[in-house]
Amino acid sequence: DKGEHKHFMAKEIAEQPIVVAEAIRSYMPTGADQVVLPDTDLDFSKLDRLTMVACGTAFYACLTAKYWFEQLAKMPVEVDIASEFRYREPPITDRTLALFVSQSGETADTLAALRYCEGKADKIVSVVNVPESSIARESDVALPIHAGVEIGVASTKAFTCQLSVLLMLALKAAADRGTLSDEELADHAAALRGLPSVLNTALDQNRAIRKSAQRLSEARDVLFLGRGLMYPLAMEGALKLKEISYIHAEGYASGELKHGPIALIDKHMPVVVMAPRDAVFDKTVSNMQEVMARKGKVILVSDDDGIAEAEDGVWSTIRMPHIHPSLAPILYSVPAQLLAYHTAVAKGTDVDQPRNLAKSVTVE
Ligand code: F6R
Repeated sequence: DKGEHKHFMAKEIAEQPIVVAEAIRSYMPTGADQVVLPDTDLDFSKLDRLTMVACGTAFYACLTAKYWFEQLAKMPVEVDIASEFRYREPPITDRTLALFVSQSGETADTLAALRYCEGKADKIVSVVNVPESSIARESDVALPIHAGVEIGVASTKAFTCQLSVLLMLALKAAADRGTLSDEELADHAAALRGLPSVLNTALDQNRAIRKSAQRLSEARDVLFLGRGLMYPLAMEGALKLKEISYIHAEGYASGELKHGPIALIDKHMPVVVMAPRDAVFDKTVSNMQEVMARKGKVILVSDDDGIAEAEDGVWSTIRMPHIHPSLAPILYSVPAQLLAYHTAVAKGTDVDQPRNLAKSVTVE
């Protein structure tokens, strides 16, 4: 049932404050600053490295989590797409935690990658939406994301729930490894608890985002730029747009622009810049100015401070609430999803059932 919404995708985007709250509550019980994993003795202090494997949107969740595990828990992390990983024959030691992320829990390549790690890794952990799925059943530990059934082929609420659970897992790793102070852990916990209401504020930007999307729907190609935690999100934003609007889009690390893709920029090229006012903001803005100097049309997604500082000459802005920098990729998922959604609606494509795609890819 779509309720008041025209598409399942719109409903699932709107549900995010509720399902993310549920995910957070189930790993950080009320009152606790500590992350508590269900029935497991998982101890990150005994591990040397983390190998994360997934496909598509779940892969971008892993790429985001790499930053968290490295920065918060000082853990070496490797991330790969399942179809590459399984044939690379990567060496896996018994001090490696192998982590698989899958909404459906049935993706053939991810399952094959998991089976490759069986008997090699210290533990096999999965982050899944479907607890009875093959990937969940074949893992030593299956961590549910609590997103509820996702019907739209383009993944939305599963992505933000995956991110929330992965961030909490990184916080658990940081606590086990003693890499964050109690104060820093409490800080993150408080920010996470505030996330659902911040997501609601982001959803209030729906109309402004629809306006920007109207302009995107005329484009043939779109670039998404971000740095640090916003780089995987730039790729996810591009994937969402490709999948449902059929507009060619690519996500790039802002700093990589001048190494090639800047050649594409002209007055026909919209460039979506994901730029919360964080430690790399100034660098992102200078990359954005290079785009504008070549007449590229910038859609700047930032907060009040960021927009006040950098809006000169941009095509349009999308205003996000302030957020703890670690949580920004979860929050900025909302405008990425809504931009794709409204662009597809403006183009009249089949949003919930895009051509050539299946919700769950159970063949190689
Ligand atoms: C994108 C999308 C796909 C899936 C991918 C993995 O919107 O839905 O890229 O993320 O096929 O699927 P799961 O997570 O079920 O393994």
